[in-house]
Amino acid sequence: PPLTVPNGPRPFYFTCRHTYEHTLIDEINRYARRNGGEVHAMSPYPGLVRVEDNAGILPTFYDPVYALQSMPQSVVVTAESIKSISKQVINALLGVGSDDDDDDDESKIDRISQQEHDRLRSAERGSLSIHCLVPGMCKAQTKPVMQHRSDKIGEEIAKMTKKMFPAARKAATEEDPNTRWLLQVMLQSPNIAVASLVECQKKGPGQNSYWPNYVHPLGLAKVDIVEKMPSSAYRKLMEGIECMKITPRPKLTTVVDLGACPGGWTSVMRRLGCYVVAVDRSELEPVLMRDDMVEFVKG
Ligand SMILES: C[S@@+](CC[C@H](N)C(=O)[O-])C[C@H]1O[C@@H](n2cnc3c(N)ncnc32)[C@H](O)[C@@H]1O
Repeated sequence: PPLTVPNGPRPFYFTCRHTYEHTLIDEINRYARRNGGEVHAMSPYPGLVRVEDNAGILPTFYDPVYALQSMPQSVVVTAESIKSISKQVINALLGVGSDDDDDDDESKIDRISQQEHDRLRSAERGSLSIHCLVPGMCKAQTKPVMQHRSDKIGEEIAKMTKKMFPAARKAATEEDPNTRWLLQVMLQSPNIAVASLVECQKKGPGQNSYWPNYVHPLGLAKVDIVEKMPSSAYRKLMEGIECMKITPRPKLTTVVDLGACPGGWTSVMRRLGCYVVAVDRSELEPVLMRDDMVEFVKG
């Protein structure tokens, strides 16, 4: 895909599970049409969707079903070394750190990066998170290709931003900052990086329900499941709950599970201590059918 230029349009990137790229593109196109506009969406890499959004529709699209994570207002840069990629990213996102001799050239100063620079300067200590991403993560590879390089770029960016922005330094107190910023860098190849910087917005019910999610790189929460699961739905719900940090009040929360058989989601809610009304035409697993805190309704 084309690299971005100062003051040029900034594409949106979305990460998604491998093989879901075209389903996500359809979903984005439908959203754009419903909101009276057109976007141009394509997948430059497995697990990545790039969207040119000249009509400014996407900033309100917080929860595409098929996306793992959003990378709003992205820049795409290229350079050879870890250090120079990091500098290019910082320069493109925050208007500082370029090696160019003609830094004063007005045409090279990006308006958005200048604004973000000023806003990040006054952001609270500890409010900036940096996520170093590679496409293989979308495939849940245990050792994704280029991860080491991406991590090194993240370290370099952290070092550079710490010098200039209190937000990139450790918080002075135990208290959580009130604002959250997320800088994401996705290496598409050893020399090409997609990067996005955004102040996260609180969206949704959980403690971690921010858009984009600053806690879990790529929007992927890892959960360790040792117990036997009635269905793979169990893991999906656990990941969602972990991702957003939703904590229902045990014993006080009644959940209605529609289409509950064989009982993956019911098991998760039971594990969290909730009372469950489970509706299905088929019975749940025997252990759930015997559970006093599960009311099975055949329907
Ligand atoms: C994919 S399974 C659900 C998996 C389950 N949520 C879990 O966590 O293990 C879909 C279920 O919906 C039930 N279902 C679909 N349509 C239904 C209907 N009209 N009435 C009752 N149950 C229905 C099916 O019987 C099936 O068990």
